[in-house]
Amino acid sequence: MGHGKLNSKINVMVVGGGGREHALCWKIAQSQFAGDIYCAPGNGGTAQDARISNVDLQVSDFAGLSEFAQNNKIDFVVIGPDNPLADGIVDFMEAKGLTVFGPKKEAAKLEWSKAHSKQFMLEHKIPTARFTVVHDFEAAQKFIKENEWARVIKADGLALGKGVFVCNSESEAVDALTAIFKEGRFGEAGSTVVIEEKLIGEELSLLLLIDGKSVMPLSACQDHKRRFDGDKGPNTGGMGAYSPVRLFDKNKSLIEAQVIKPIEEALKNGSLDFKGMLFAGILVGLPASSDGTAPPSNNELIPYALEFNARFGDPETQALMPRLKSDILPLLWASAQGCLADEQIEWFDKASVCVVLSARDYPESSSKGKAIEVDDLPADVCIFHAGTQLKDGKLLTNGGRVLALTALGDNIEAARNNAYKAIKQVRFADMACRSDIALKEVGQCLST
Ligand code: AMP
Ligand code: GLY
Repeated sequence: MGHGKLNSKINVMVVGGGGREHALCWKIAQSQFAGDIYCAPGNGGTAQDARISNVDLQVSDFAGLSEFAQNNKIDFVVIGPDNPLADGIVDFMEAKGLTVFGPKKEAAKLEWSKAHSKQFMLEHKIPTARFTVVHDFEAAQKFIKENEWARVIKADGLALGKGVFVCNSESEAVDALTAIFKEGRFGEAGSTVVIEEKLIGEELSLLLLIDGKSVMPLSACQDHKRRFDGDKGPNTGGMGAYSPVRLFDKNKSLIEAQVIKPIEEALKNGSLDFKGMLFAGILVGLPASSDGTAPPSNNELIPYALEFNARFGDPETQALMPRLKSDILPLLWASAQGCLADEQIEWFDKASVCVVLSARDYPESSSKGKAIEVDDLPADVCIFHAGTQLKDGKLLTNGGRVLALTALGDNIEAARNNAYKAIKQVRFADMACRSDIALKEVGQCLST
């Protein structure tokens, strides 16, 4: 396969086995450039799709995956999850001569070190919460005692989304520091800690496709991280998402000027060397008042970057793929080849809502080996599997977040109705979901 723009069919392997990877495979399978498609390790959903072959290799098996790619004439490898990126899968595979979508280890540091990521934001004047970086319990405790604003505690490294503590008091912050430093709950990932100012506002996910030189923003999404309705309960890998997001449209020029432009400049002046997907978690809001409550509402809101991820979001990707009109393969390929400026991205003029169906006790526990029944779904509803397995031709549960339904509609309200209606077509024991995905957005749509 030559370099530059994609102009013939290619064999593709997607690395990962969640809903994000199923959604990517589903979209890749519609590409005019798709040859054979593999998913490693994949899940029950990718196994059921005749266009996709599962590969029984784990995402950490860099040597096995590279050998499989070479033996099966795979032209392009697309990396889904954060851990292999942080461990240098792209460096490893490129050294073997493979073409890979995703950032190298050093570039992925924007995700695997929150301290590094905050430093990057500071240097490039991207608005972010005030912060400090500490390496031991005593210094951390002293800092939160002396600085009333310092109430958000973050383990520096990857912690399955569980390393962030948004605290309401000094004593809660001390408890978080105890869990990280004294109990060692996050191991090496918690040897460094970022302490931040607490912000209050609305969040959105902005995915930026990057080829080392230029930035192509995707349509904005909103995730629902908490387990229960009303954003209550523990944090999860994501209980649902929707796109587009009115909050983005309202703040578009600010976000472009204060987040996207500095990233473009960093790429141009050589201080950022990144290709793949850069995912910015953005909070449009303000620092909390000193008592932790919302500040007066007449203050001008600012788009703060909360964090960067070096990959596609999950479940954001499951909300985005059905809305994407463009062929995805030329875009991913152009990111890897450095020719994104020649590409364009188009979206269907539809909204999407993705509702995750999980095990009842997720995230405390998961579901294994329970039969899943899926009746026929309407044409505008997609099913993306995560914790499922195909065993002896039977679809079984195999995880906490089992699968997700993404519905399209003429607007968010219609998409939301379609998604919730479709849930009746899916059954497994102790199935659960949030009932308020995208509800706030519908409320906003009705009131404007
Ligand atoms: P992160 O992994 O850094 O995005 O943090 C996870 C979640 O914690 C975010 O989605 C926010 O809901 C919350 N969070 C992170 N940083 C802050 C902050 N400085 N102020 C308030 N909430 C925050
Ligand atoms: N939805 C948040 C993430 O993918 O990290």
